[in-house]
Amino acid sequence: MDANALDTLVRERRSIRGYKKEAVPKELIAEIINVAKGAPSSMNTQPWFFHVVTGEPLERIREGNTAKMLSGANVDREIKMNHGYEGAYRQRQVDIAKQLFAVMGIAREDTEKRQDWVMRGFRQFDAPVCVIITYDRVLADSDDTAFDCGAVTTALVNAAWSRGLGAVINSQGIMQSPVVREHAGIADDQVIMKAVALGWPDENFPANAVVSERKSVEEAATFLGFDD
Ligand SMILES: Cc1cc2nc3c(=O)[nH]c(=O)nc-3n(C[C@H](O)[C@H](O)[C@H](O)COP(=O)(O)O)c2cc1C
Repeated sequence: MDANALDTLVRERRSIRGYKKEAVPKELIAEIINVAKGAPSSMNTQPWFFHVVTGEPLERIREGNTAKMLSGANVDREIKMNHGYEGAYRQRQVDIAKQLFAVMGIAREDTEKRQDWVMRGFRQFDAPVCVIITYDRVLADSDDTAFDCGAVTTALVNAAWSRGLGAVINSQGIMQSPVVREHAGIADDQVIMKAVALGWPDENFPANAVVSERKSVEEAATFLGFDD
């Protein structure tokens, strides 16, 4: 196992929010899922499912999401959500938004451009592919299920990145989950967890160059019982 290769992948991967129009072969996405499904899960339950959407159905999802959000409809998602970050969490949210807006040339007071940026997320960043992550409803009461979905989704975006594909895990794509359910044909026994936009990165899209900050090891961890 080459530790350097994994370190480089984890360090260099970043969210991609601008894509080339080029299609992504179905076989390549299947290959990525084949790698991702090696992620660990509680009792090896593998509660996740991937709905890979492109072409017409994805266009209908983009249109449906856009129409709903522009109409001022309330967020309608199936998983619990945070209703306003505070303190350090709010600060990190503000910091990444500032980084993205700076490179995209979006001024603080430019409400139109800010709105365009937000709508871009509801369109899945105009990516050629969107993967909707769901889990089996019978496992809905366990927090392990969310943990397992996170693990497999991280593996998915890493496997994509190592093949030159970009992705952004996003909640914006599932803010109107009934729209997604209808156009992606998702059965009622599945709970819609998250969206992942996927495609070939557009290297001329400024936001794709943004490297987000991370807290230090000292802030993230405590070590107990060591000799030194
Ligand atoms: C659960 C989750 C939800 C996210 N939702 C969104 C989203 O709705 N829109 C967006 O632009 N990015 C979204 N992101 C991407 C994060 O903003 C991004 O991962 C974070 O800023 C770190 O940047 P990096 O992925 O480039 O390392 C989400 C990421 C996760 C893990």
